[in-house]
Amino acid sequence: MSDGGQQNYGPLGTALVIIPTYNEAENIGLIVGRVRAAVPEAHILVADDNSPDGTGKLADELAAGDEHVHVLHRKGKEGLGAAYLAGFAWGLENGYGVIVEMDADGSHQPEELPRLLTALAGADLVLGSRWVPGGRVVNWPKSREILSRGGSTYSRLMLNVPIRDVTGGYRAFRRETLEGLGLDEVASAGYCFQVDLARRAVQKGFRVVEVPITFVEREFGDSKMSKDIVVEALWRVTQWGVKAQVAKLTGKGSGKA
Ligand code: GDD
Ligand code: MN
Repeated sequence: MSDGGQQNYGPLGTALVIIPTYNEAENIGLIVGRVRAAVPEAHILVADDNSPDGTGKLADELAAGDEHVHVLHRKGKEGLGAAYLAGFAWGLENGYGVIVEMDADGSHQPEELPRLLTALAGADLVLGSRWVPGGRVVNWPKSREILSRGGSTYSRLMLNVPIRDVTGGYRAFRRETLEGLGLDEVASAGYCFQVDLARRAVQKGFRVVEVPITFVEREFGDSKMSKDIVVEALWRVTQWGVKAQVAKLTGKGSGKA
C-alpha cells in the first residue's frame, strides 16, 4: 500500500470501505464517488458476486481510473456474509488499519462515515445505529421497520447483547477487532452475519459503540432481503441463544457458542 495520508482519523491506519454488491449497476458509480468525496484518504473494495447486471465490470472501470478503488470478483451469489468474509481477509492481508462495512445502495450515507471513524478512536467496533436516539430511517415501508426493529429486539434479548441495532450493516472495525472475532468459525451467510459479528464482539469483550445514523432506503434497484434470509436469521439467533442459556444453566462453558 502506498497511501500515506492515513493520519486524519488518528493512528489507526488507512480505512478500507468494503462494499458488497449484487446487481447494483445503477448505484455503484454513485456510491464510490460519494465515498471518495467524503473520506478521500480511504480505500474502497467492491466485493461483487458476479452480478448478472454487470456491476463487476463497472467496478473494474472505476478501479482502472483510481488507485483507491479495488475489486474482488467472486464466482457467484453466496450471500452478504461470505462476501464480507472474503473482503475482510483481503483487507487484513493488505495491511489496512480500519475496515468498514457499507451497502452499495446509498442507505448508508458516506457523508456520515467521518463520524463513525472518529468514534472508533474510543472503541473497537462502531455500529451505525438506526435505533438509538438521533438515529432514523427514511422511506422504509412500515413492514420493513417492524421486521428490523423486531429482529434487533429478539436478538438483543436472546443473545443478551446491549445493542439497539444488532442487524445494521454500517460498521467500522479496528483490524485487531476483526482479528479477534474468530472469523474462521463464522458460517452465517445472509444478513444474520451482522448479528453474528456483533454478538462475537460483545462476548470477546470488545468495546462496541453505537453512533446514530440516518438510513435512507434505496432509490434504485431492489433489496436482496428474502424469506430465506429471515429464516436463517431466526434459526441461528434462536440456536445461539438457547445454547448460551443451556451453558449458563449447566454451568458448562462460558456460553460462548
Ligand atoms: N456480494 C454480495 N453477495 N452482495 C450482496 C449479497 C450477496 O449475496 N446480498 C446483498 N448484497 C449487497 C447488496 O448489493 C447491497 O450492497 C448490500 O449487500 C445490502 O443489501 P440490500 O438488499 O440493499 O439490503 P437491505 O437494504 O434489504 O438491508 C439492509 O438492512 C439489513 C437489516 O438491517 C442492510 O443494511 C443489511 O446489511 C442489514 O442487515
Ligand atoms: Mn438496501
